[in-house]
Amino acid sequence: MSGPRHFLDLDRLDAGTLRGILDRGMACKRAGGAERPLAGKALAMIFEKPSTRTRVSFERGIQQLGGAAIVLEPASSQLGRGETVADTARVLSRYVDAIMIRTTSEEKLLEMAEHASVPVINGLTDRTHPCQLMADVMTFEEHRGPIKDRVVAWSGDGNNMATSWIHAAVRFDFELRLACPDPLGPPKEMLDWAAAEGGRVVVTPEAEAAVAEADAVVTDVWVSMGDAEEEAGAKARHNLLRGYQVDDRLMALAKPDAIFMHCLPAHRGEEVRASVIDGPRSVVWDEAENRLHAQKGILLWCLA
Ligand code: CP
Ligand code: NVA
Repeated sequence: MSGPRHFLDLDRLDAGTLRGILDRGMACKRAGGAERPLAGKALAMIFEKPSTRTRVSFERGIQQLGGAAIVLEPASSQLGRGETVADTARVLSRYVDAIMIRTTSEEKLLEMAEHASVPVINGLTDRTHPCQLMADVMTFEEHRGPIKDRVVAWSGDGNNMATSWIHAAVRFDFELRLACPDPLGPPKEMLDWAAAEGGRVVVTPEAEAAVAEADAVVTDVWVSMGDAEEEAGAKARHNLLRGYQVDDRLMALAKPDAIFMHCLPAHRGEEVRASVIDGPRSVVWDEAENRLHAQKGILLWCLA
C-alpha cells in the first residue's frame, strides 16, 4: 500500500528521487512556464513562522503550473484556537491536493503527514529546511557543474540549514565541512546518520580549516526564527559566532572560483560581510530565484 508522496526531509528520499526532482525543476526553468500540468490542483500553505521566499515561490510556482495556492496563518485560522494538526490535516485533505507547512516543530510536520491523505511538504521546521537545499544544489550546479565529489564549507550556527546540508551531502555525494562553535554544532544524531550512510561530513570549530580549498562557502543567520534565545540570548550567540563570520579573508582561503551561498534573509555585518554577499562571488539572488524552479520540481513529484 503506498501513501501520498510526502516531501518531508532529504534523508527520507533516495538519491535518484531527489535527482529526478531537481531535473524536473531545471526543465521547468528552461521551458519558461508555457505548460500547465497542475491545472485544477490546489496547494494549502500553513505558516507558523514568517516567510518571504518560501511563500512567494510556492504560490507563484503552482500558479505558473496552472494550479492555485491558499495561505493559512494560525492567527486567522482555527489552528490558532487549538484545532489539532491532525484534524486540520484530515479536513484540508478534502479540499486541496497538497499541503505545505512551515512550523515550529518537527512533531507537527510529522503529525500533519500522518493524518493527511494528500502530500505534505516541509517548508521549514526548527530542525530542517529541505526545499531550500533543492534550490541550493541546483544553484551550485548551475554555477560550478556537478556537486558530486565537490567540497562545501559551512561557517556558523549548526541550525536547520546546516542539518539539511548534511542530508544533501549524503544524498548528492559531496564533502561537507561544518565550522561551528562547540555549543552550536548540528545535532549528533544527524552526524551519526551521515556517518552510517558513508557520508563525507566533518565538524570542526575552525572556520579556516573548513573553508580551505572549498568550492562553496555557505552560512546562515546567527539567530533563527523561534530560537529560544531569539531575544534574550542573542548577544551570547553573537559572541560565540563572531569568529565564524564569512568575510573576504575567509573567502580568500577557499578555491579562487568558490561561490558564496546564503538562503536569506541575511544580516550583513553579522554572519556575512556586505563585501562578500554583495560581491562577485555571491550567487544568493540566483539561489533565491531557484526556490521557484525547485518548488516546481517538488510539486510535480508530489502531485504526479
Ligand atoms: N530562505 C527562506 O526560506 O526564506 P523565507 O524565510 O523568506 O521563506
Ligand atoms: N535558519 C533560518 C532560516 C531561514 C530561512 C531560520 O530558521 O530562521
